[in-house]
Amino acid sequence: MNKNPLKQNLKSASSFLKDYEAPPQPDLDTTKGIILYLEGINVSFDSFKAINELNLYIKQGELRCIIGPNGAGKTTMMDVITGKTKPQSGTAWFGQKLNLLTMDEPQIAQAGIGRKFQKPTVFEALTVNDNLMIANAGKKTVWHTLRHQVNQIEQEQIEEILLLIGLMEMRNESAAILSHGQKQWLELGMLLMQKPQLLLVDEPVAGMTTQEMDKTAELLNSLAGKHTLVVVEHDMDFVRQIAKTVSVLHQGSILAEGNMEQVQNNPKVIEVYLGQSTTGRNVNVA
Ligand SMILES: Nc1ncnc2c1ncn2[C@@H]1O[C@H](COP(=O)(O)OP(=O)(O)OP(=O)(O)O)[C@@H](O)[C@H]1O
Ligand SMILES: [Mg+2]
Repeated sequence: MNKNPLKQNLKSASSFLKDYEAPPQPDLDTTKGIILYLEGINVSFDSFKAINELNLYIKQGELRCIIGPNGAGKTTMMDVITGKTKPQSGTAWFGQKLNLLTMDEPQIAQAGIGRKFQKPTVFEALTVNDNLMIANAGKKTVWHTLRHQVNQIEQEQIEEILLLIGLMEMRNESAAILSHGQKQWLELGMLLMQKPQLLLVDEPVAGMTTQEMDKTAELLNSLAGKHTLVVVEHDMDFVRQIAKTVSVLHQGSILAEGNMEQVQNNPKVIEVYLGQSTTGRNVNVA
């Protein structure tokens, strides 16, 4: 008899985190320790340069924060990585072997790059558990997925994710009744079901309460190492909770890079933020 899945409920999140590791994608080669290479990327919309000779290197397993004023090109950069926008020039590699510029959006997702948009897109008519189940569906239809008997491994995976995102007690509730923060965690859980190697997260704490923000910081910190994370965020209190290396994007290029203290004390960064405090909560750098 295999392990009783209900016993998994009792497994502590910390012991899960110790065991949990995303399996390596077969085509992903990170032997040089770098999972993402962006070099000389240019994106123009009509005559406007949204991304300008952008260079960015992300190490495998790191949690990189990207900050920068509104319109700096942060979301556009994520659009390039995920294949939504093709640059006019430059190179983008996922590991040593996967040329992202020759791949379409589904191929990039399949290769192990997951993206979390700002607005949560969970299925409100379904329970929390079923949202996680369909996230694993691949090409199967929702109907087929909900009818199919989850196997032991899938059930264990769902329970592990429920523990990780703190929604075990809400598993049989409709996703419609979740708070904004809980929906964000559920969507992160849905992404994790697909075992991404690289996770791109755009403004995860916008609209969250302080408690939800703290929990999100804890969650993202716990994912680093097993996954690589690129997190775009304006809220400096939140960035401080998760920051190791911070890259500042300005007018489509990297203006500065370093730890939080180095970046905050960089005169170029201070100038760009027009003297606005980068120590306050919910700094709006517009
Ligand atoms: N599809 C598009 N067509 C035209 N202009 C666009 C398009 N997408 C983005 N832009 C412009 O490119 C610039 C960069 O936008 P982007 O959304 O990447 O900025 P951002 O750094 O994510 O800003 P925010 O912090 O406000 O989210 C902006 O001036 C934006 O108006
Ligand atoms: Mg944006």
